[in-house]
Amino acid sequence: MSAIPPRKRVGVLISGRGSNMVSLAEAAQAPGYPAQIALVISNIPDVVGLDRARGFGIATATVDHRPFGRDREAFERAVDEVLRVNQIDLLVLAGFMRILTPWFVARWEGRMINIHPSLLPLFKGTHTHRQALEAGVAEHGCSVHFVVPELDAGPVILQAKVPVLPGDDEETLAKRVLVEEHKLYPAALAEVASGRAKLEGGAVIRG
Ligand code: GRF
Repeated sequence: MSAIPPRKRVGVLISGRGSNMVSLAEAAQAPGYPAQIALVISNIPDVVGLDRARGFGIATATVDHRPFGRDREAFERAVDEVLRVNQIDLLVLAGFMRILTPWFVARWEGRMINIHPSLLPLFKGTHTHRQALEAGVAEHGCSVHFVVPELDAGPVILQAKVPVLPGDDEETLAKRVLVEEHKLYPAALAEVASGRAKLEGGAVIRG
């Protein structure tokens, strides 16, 4: 009998409702899932995502970015300290609305993933559903990628597609994509936590 490897301790960074975090917490309850959601940190106090995390019995913390003013790295050092104290192995960004400095990205290189609501490399940045509608694409979707210093430019681990339907507006399209996000993120985290997907030489290597 081979020993079961220890589950990776995952920290999730949020800024709001945390629906992706909930999908990860639910997935992590399954026996054999290779990660546990050990900590949820919000940069905004009292967001509903923190309550939802506590509902799963997950430890939470708030590191408010505002007292740090423009010193983004000082804010990140405070976040990093909380992650260190909680012995976090992998970091998941789930609706975390802060741009990260090269210092923080380098520190978590290969151990930090993000979900973006578009089929990267299409539609980086914000308002991705509006961008997709304006571009007139027939398919839209979401991507989970390793985080690199350039925004939304990291190598993609998994993607999911949805059709763009006649009469779609930003809201209907966002809703259809979010359903896929909630399946895609747990699948991608499992790939990374189990070591089946790794960042090597700027690309995703599958083992
Ligand atoms: C999601 O659409 C995600 O792709 C984007 O921000 C949104 C966060 O939603 N990065 P939630 O907080 O997980 O509900």
